[in-house]
Amino acid sequence: MTHPNYRARFHDYLAKLKQEGRYRHFAVLERHCGAFPKASMHTATGVKDVTIWCSNDYLGMGQHTAVLEAMHEALDMWGAGSGGTRNISGNMLVHTQLESELAAWHAKEAALLFTSGYNANEGALSALIKLLPGCVVFSDQKNHASMIAGITRNHCNKNIFAHNNLADLERQLAETSSDTFKIVACESVYSMDGTIAPLREIGMLAHKYGALTYLDEVHGVGLYGANGAGVAERDDCLDLFDVIVANFGKSFGVAGGYVAASRETIDAIRSHAPGFIFTTSLPPVVAAGALASLRVLRDAHDLRSRMHRQVDLLRKRLLEVKLPILTSGSHIVPLLIGGAQCCKGVADWLFENVNIYVQPINYPTVATGEERLRLTPTPLHTDAMIDELVDSLDFLWRQQHLPRRIAA
Ligand SMILES: Cc1ncc(COP(=O)(O)O)c(C=O)c1O
Repeated sequence: MTHPNYRARFHDYLAKLKQEGRYRHFAVLERHCGAFPKASMHTATGVKDVTIWCSNDYLGMGQHTAVLEAMHEALDMWGAGSGGTRNISGNMLVHTQLESELAAWHAKEAALLFTSGYNANEGALSALIKLLPGCVVFSDQKNHASMIAGITRNHCNKNIFAHNNLADLERQLAETSSDTFKIVACESVYSMDGTIAPLREIGMLAHKYGALTYLDEVHGVGLYGANGAGVAERDDCLDLFDVIVANFGKSFGVAGGYVAASRETIDAIRSHAPGFIFTTSLPPVVAAGALASLRVLRDAHDLRSRMHRQVDLLRKRLLEVKLPILTSGSHIVPLLIGGAQCCKGVADWLFENVNIYVQPINYPTVATGEERLRLTPTPLHTDAMIDELVDSLDFLWRQQHLPRRIAA
């Protein structure tokens, strides 16, 4: 038997991605503390300053003084790493403090930290499914890859309902036997389309059919609700969601993830989820940063309203020049540029001509043909930066005869 040529296989795969314009080029950035959304971008030809228009550090908390001070102090007090899993010497006081404040924020009895939002979804959903024999999961069509990983890990019956479609969800729930365990899983803000789920209606429907409700608030926390606890808080339906997952990598400006739920639910996940049990816990310095961020976010009314103002301004300006954006009520502004090559071409042009960095979004993150630039204005994007972005895009659209928005 000839020895298989592994490298050739991988080479062919990468060649195909390149040919289809889907090969992922990572931008090499140096964020400058105190200057966000400005950063330096390193390329083969040198270094240049750019304005970032696609960051998930939605409020610029990654450079907030309270967060930085807490992290400096934690590093000096407790050192670099936690030294173990939560079960074996890695359970730090700051982890437990953070969990109890997160639980209170979401009006739940308990919370549990994970090393990322991805791990939180994968770990929590797979544990719940394992602990509920015969469980049927009802999952929104646009749910994040980490939720899908958690759902598929233990081979349950999975029903996909059309995105944010209550009638489709109800039809599927009604077709399932009343004595079957059920989980309805959705997100609050869908990060690629910017759509917001009708949470109150979904929660009520799920409970009508006796389902456990599972909500991913990764793109909602910090940004919505009187205390910034997310869309479920804003829509006054925290009680309708049994399990809430979110992370620290976006509006918190740090990294890590968590689940909040009833005491028994959290205890069961803690006791079962491999992605929680068999991994080193969050470094205390990261947990301290997340805790400081949470304390700021609870009262960050000015930051939130400034962000929403900048989002509204950008959306209004893009609509004025009829660029093909998806209009949603959220803070995410997707600019549709079907075709991976064209989408990359627009992003490259912005970078080369006006020092704007926005990453093209391709398959598999979005469907082929729905490639886009996902714009995320923060409170630190000035009106002048918005003007620069819109004027540049408008110029390019005119120059390249790109399709404008048709709908009103
Ligand atoms: C909806 C959603 N859930 C979970 C995650 C994963 O979070 P993390 O980046 O902390 O792993 C993401 C990240 O992009 C997300 O968009």
